[in-house]
Amino acid sequence: MPSNEPSREMLGESTSFLLMQEQVSRAAALDKPVLVIGERGTGKELVAARLHYLSRRWQQAFLKINCAALADTLLESQLFGHEAGAFTGASRQQKGFFERADQGTLFLDEIASTSGALQEKLLRIVEYGEFERLGGGKPLRADVRLVAATNVDLPQLAASGGFREDLLDRLAFDVITLPPLRERREDIPLLARHFAIGMTRELGRPYFPGFTKTASKALLDHAWPGNIRELKNVIERSVYRMEDTDQPVSLVSFDPFASPYRPAAGGSPPRPTVIPMAVTPAATGVAGQSGQDFKRQVELYEKDLINAALQRCQYNQRKAASLLGLRYDQLRGYLRKYSPKAAREDAGDGQAPA
Ligand SMILES: Nc1ncnc2c1ncn2[C@@H]1O[C@H](COP(=O)(O)OP(=O)(O)OP(=O)(O)O)[C@@H](O)[C@H]1O
Ligand SMILES: [Mg+2]
Repeated sequence: MPSNEPSREMLGESTSFLLMQEQVSRAAALDKPVLVIGERGTGKELVAARLHYLSRRWQQAFLKINCAALADTLLESQLFGHEAGAFTGASRQQKGFFERADQGTLFLDEIASTSGALQEKLLRIVEYGEFERLGGGKPLRADVRLVAATNVDLPQLAASGGFREDLLDRLAFDVITLPPLRERREDIPLLARHFAIGMTRELGRPYFPGFTKTASKALLDHAWPGNIRELKNVIERSVYRMEDTDQPVSLVSFDPFASPYRPAAGGSPPRPTVIPMAVTPAATGVAGQSGQDFKRQVELYEKDLINAALQRCQYNQRKAASLLGLRYDQLRGYLRKYSPKAAREDAGDGQAPA
């Protein structure tokens, strides 16, 4: 049975990954705050857990809180606790995360979104180990190891007045910056296989037959703006959508929204051609990414649309061409470009156009 407990396993063999893991092991031994920086989906939460479980505090509490998910007062009350009557609805005294994580580790996720008032209180506890419950005058003490994470450039935020410089100095005793997946492509096959085998097991299938060469190349070529989380989703979806579970995965399903029926932006009626949808930036999931290769993103989107049409038409290429509003020879051209194997397996030949 698959477990609902997220896996804490961190896989990787690339140099940048191994250096980062070494830094994590070294930092785990200390009680000083650590800042974990990385793009979305790079494994910041896994690193925070690793810092705790490799430390001498491993048998004590490891608590996490997402600073972006709660309004200011609620976040303060969660972190520092409150006395009865501190605010409307506070009928009983409640201990906060700092008290509950005493002797353990507290993971402050998305630290960049904290208010100035909260940053001041955090500074006090980092400097002096001291805090107060909301509505209470008595200073309390807690021995908590802080790990904070963000995907924001904190020095830049601090320089523009959006984050306290003194708190940043204290939190950044050691800064662990996680490499994005595109900077450690050699780990993609390993991670892809790992997630594929997990999904195969979850689906109760006997074994995972691997990826075709074309699929493996597509995985290596993708930009992975959502990093390992995106890779995990893409692999799990591709395994789940396999037509023949005995044959290697040949179609990588990068975009679950790819469909010839996808409504155009703004809700106007869908058009039967690929081009207007391909230029919708949201469609590629990389809107606003600087440095992205425009042509490559368009190619990826075209591939997704073609894959979706082929799947819908059970690989009848004539039907798929018609669904896409393309001539058969146009679709064949795309297939020769993107999927020579599919071009050879001419499922549409000799069949009447839909
Ligand atoms: N090296 C790795 N090996 C295996 N799985 C990993 C690895 N790194 C991350 N993951 C998996 O990728 C997903 C995202 O990781 P995590 O939640 O730690 O990222 P994050 O940086 O905190 O993302 P976000 O910024 O969106 O909060 C999780 O499912 C995690 O288990
Ligand atoms: Mg996270």
